Amino acid sequence: MSSLSGALTEVVARVFSDLGLPAEYGRVTVSNRPDLGQFQCNGALAAAKAAKQNPRAIAEQVMAKLQALPQLRDISLAGPGFINLSLTDKALAEHANKVAADDRLAVPTKKREMVVMDYGGANIAKTMHVGHLRAAIIGEALRRLFIFAGDEVVGDVHMGDWGLQMGMIISELEIRRPDLPYFDPNFKGPYPNASPVTVDELEEVYPTAAAACKADPARMEKARVATAELQQGRPGYRALWQHFFDVSVEAMKRDYGALGVHFDLWKGEACVDPLIAPMVDKMKAIGIAREDQGALIVPVAKPDDKKEIPPLILIKRDGAAMYGTTDLATIVDRVHEQNPDFILYVVDQRQHLHFEQVFRAAIMAGINGKARMEHLGFGTMNGPDGKPFKTRAGGVMKLQDLIAMMSGAAMARLNEQGLATDYDPAERQEIARRVGLAALKFADLSNHPVANYVFDLDRFVRFEGKTGPYLQYAAVRIKSILRKAEAQGEKPGRILPPEPGERDLLLALGALPDAIAAAYEERGPNKIADYAFGLAQTFSSYYNQFHILSEQDKALLQSRLALCAVTLRTLELSLSLLGIEVPERM
Ligand code: ARG
Repeated sequence: MSSLSGALTEVVARVFSDLGLPAEYGRVTVSNRPDLGQFQCNGALAAAKAAKQNPRAIAEQVMAKLQALPQLRDISLAGPGFINLSLTDKALAEHANKVAADDRLAVPTKKREMVVMDYGGANIAKTMHVGHLRAAIIGEALRRLFIFAGDEVVGDVHMGDWGLQMGMIISELEIRRPDLPYFDPNFKGPYPNASPVTVDELEEVYPTAAAACKADPARMEKARVATAELQQGRPGYRALWQHFFDVSVEAMKRDYGALGVHFDLWKGEACVDPLIAPMVDKMKAIGIAREDQGALIVPVAKPDDKKEIPPLILIKRDGAAMYGTTDLATIVDRVHEQNPDFILYVVDQRQHLHFEQVFRAAIMAGINGKARMEHLGFGTMNGPDGKPFKTRAGGVMKLQDLIAMMSGAAMARLNEQGLATDYDPAERQEIARRVGLAALKFADLSNHPVANYVFDLDRFVRFEGKTGPYLQYAAVRIKSILRKAEAQGEKPGRILPPEPGERDLLLALGALPDAIAAAYEERGPNKIADYAFGLAQTFSSYYNQFHILSEQDKALLQSRLALCAVTLRTLELSLSLLGIEVPERM
């Protein structure tokens, strides 16, 4: 199955090839001039150019063959050779019935690939904050989209747990509590089972340590030494690291869970540490890594580079592995474990150069197996001042606090609108939670990931306009229509050929596969957000024009209920691909 334009493309492509013209020129798209026709094909122009013929003459030959097809009407020629065409109402209804009968709502599956997605990146011992929010929201949407499209996806949280921040914390703790056994080189173990710090304490320790290191080079040196010793395996430091890891992962699981974001793997940078030495040896042996002022680097620049691409630093002078080193070793690990066809990194756009260096080095070293690698960089969520979003006090907002703020705003808005007022408190709370998350996720995903956007709480939680709550409400309203129909003993039936005012809804329902394909190709969940919003608006004007529950003609009533049911399924699928849950009622 496919979309309406996909089905028409097949038909028109066949006509092109029957005329001895390349079939790919038969592409049909939804018309951008709906007054002239529902669909258009512009291929006659390109075909004419290739065949050195007159485009209008070619278009006329194509049209002559199209006239003979019973499913088409109003075939016309415009401008230098554009073909406009529409489907008959009977053909529209036939397609809608097929969509309704299909579990996948006519969305085809692609050739299955193994995809590893990297959209976590939260750091051990640092609070999860809004910087990690976009990776999680966008990554989760893409994970769902790729799975729905037919891929096998393994989502890896890839925590930051191996860098300088670990040495900063370890040395800070050593200064504060030198008596802990982890710092005694003669300690014979075993180390205590319980962590010496809670995650809340860590969240205070890290910024204090980072500030101290920044202010004092000697203090920074201490952190560097601790990092190198940790990486070289000093037992007390490793034991301490394990505590930090455990308490942080517990908190991260809670935060990602609250956002509805799933990971299959809870791996971090540290777990690929054993792979670093053999990888570095190989890179030295094949001559792509070389010494430079005591460090080991991989020059990755190419002669035709437009801007300068500095070398990737593999090992620093003090022996410490770098961010790029762990990313390379992680590729080795993924090729070994999943052997992916594709690795997608959903990471802040500001890390673009880093990934360019890593990908180049991976290809030069031949460690990426068959995997294509891509960095999908995202922009920042900004405050009203146009700078990256902060709390009112100017600090970094914790994810937990942000989620609570969204639910609170959603609850206030529900009250204002008189929605869900007489339900019991637990259900109201659950509705507010879903609405708050929908507001946040939809606002994020309605832009292409690479764009920046401004956090505007008041607008995000509105039930009018292009918002998550509007779409949830649209779906809830259809649920309520269907529930009432059921109570009256009425069920959806066959979709009848539309009246003129109904055509737009059938056309919109027939375009879902196009939106999904575009979102997949462009890595842009915004294509699904736009589609869902358009569909909800089309449904809303349909609902204003046609009565449904009060319709006396049985066949018409059943047809309209069927349209309601397919619209609901289409909205719910679109929203679920964005990671948004629809309440049962509001
Ligand atoms: N931990 C990193 C940060 O907070 C993000 C990690 C992204 N993923 C990766 N494979 N480098 O900046």
